[in-house]
Amino acid sequence: MEELKMTPWDVSGELNDSAYTKLVEKFGVDLINEKLIERIGKIAKGKIHPFLKRSIFFAHRELNLVLDDYEKGRPFYLYTGRGPSGKMHIGHLLPFSFTLWLQKTFDVHLLIQLTDDEKFMVKDISKTAIEKYTNENIIDILSLGFDPKKTHIIKDYESAKMMYYYATDVAKHVTFSTVKAVFGVTDSDNIGKVFFPSMQIVPAFLLSALTGQKMRCLIPYAIDQDPYFRVARDVLPKLGYYKPSAIISKFLPALQGSSAKMSSSKEESAIFLDDSREVVRKKLMKYAFSGGKDTAEEQRKYGANPDMDFSFLEYSFLEEDQKKVDQVYNDYKSGKILSGEMKEIAANKISSFLETLSDNREKVKDRIDDYILDPKKIKL
Ligand code: TRP
Repeated sequence: MEELKMTPWDVSGELNDSAYTKLVEKFGVDLINEKLIERIGKIAKGKIHPFLKRSIFFAHRELNLVLDDYEKGRPFYLYTGRGPSGKMHIGHLLPFSFTLWLQKTFDVHLLIQLTDDEKFMVKDISKTAIEKYTNENIIDILSLGFDPKKTHIIKDYESAKMMYYYATDVAKHVTFSTVKAVFGVTDSDNIGKVFFPSMQIVPAFLLSALTGQKMRCLIPYAIDQDPYFRVARDVLPKLGYYKPSAIISKFLPALQGSSAKMSSSKEESAIFLDDSREVVRKKLMKYAFSGGKDTAEEQRKYGANPDMDFSFLEYSFLEEDQKKVDQVYNDYKSGKILSGEMKEIAANKISSFLETLSDNREKVKDRIDDYILDPKKIKL
């Protein structure tokens, strides 16, 4: 079996349970246990986000300290981001909908960084293409319904003056040998990769720096991004800020199977945000990895494994009514629902979600400027 390699710029190998267990040990993160989920559930008035329930967000760093601050009425903020190297598919967007849930639950400020500079330096892609994706991605993200007063977008190129000022504080405290060890940078890599991590670390203290109020920062991210924030936790105390806390996800299951990532480069490997009802349905019918049995007869007799079924999982991420999800889970597992029916249920749910997004997109598309981070407009 191919050995798992994971840096922010390169993920290869099979991502199964044991691979995640190894990463948890190697990176030194903590697992999210029942007690922690309960604690969050109390704050969220009993509503547990499906990503916590299904262990998509499965690990953390010092999440307790953020919750302590929240309970004591001290402000904290959220920070997440996106590398704009292509169109967004549903697997890219769902983590943002989890972040939105966190923002609503805690009623806090959120920074969203678009690392256009990173994608230019690490990928073979033109600046024109990146700029186009950056603007499209921002609209896609905002169409989820973020609070304009508390959501601040950073486009690295555009915010470069402000970002660079603070990035040098970070850079001064990170050695070349750390970058080599943590990011797997080698002698033949371009030097952009050596400096860029400073840019992704800045938002982890930027709101504190700009407002003069020292706050904790909670960063939701997929585990491949952990190198940045391991370094951040080392550097920020040296600059007088808190170590950032983290809530860390696995990669979402791909259309064609649970151990591959959804990919923007293959049209049939993911559901894109502009896929029509017909296309969504076809993709699920044709490609979606099923936890069901090969024949209807066997399925009726033995039932399915919903936990590895793409259609069930997507449905469970999007259906707000937890009772309905439990019902579908049990019916699918017991053989009452067949694979084709499960795909039908999921296709409807996904398409309704995409239609809502596309309505919202029309409303936000001319208002992007309202969301771009402006230090003068931050009201804590
Ligand atoms: N580097 C990330 C990517 O390529 C984008 C990113 C920037 C990010 N800041 C972040 C992701 C903070 C998670 C959290 O996708």
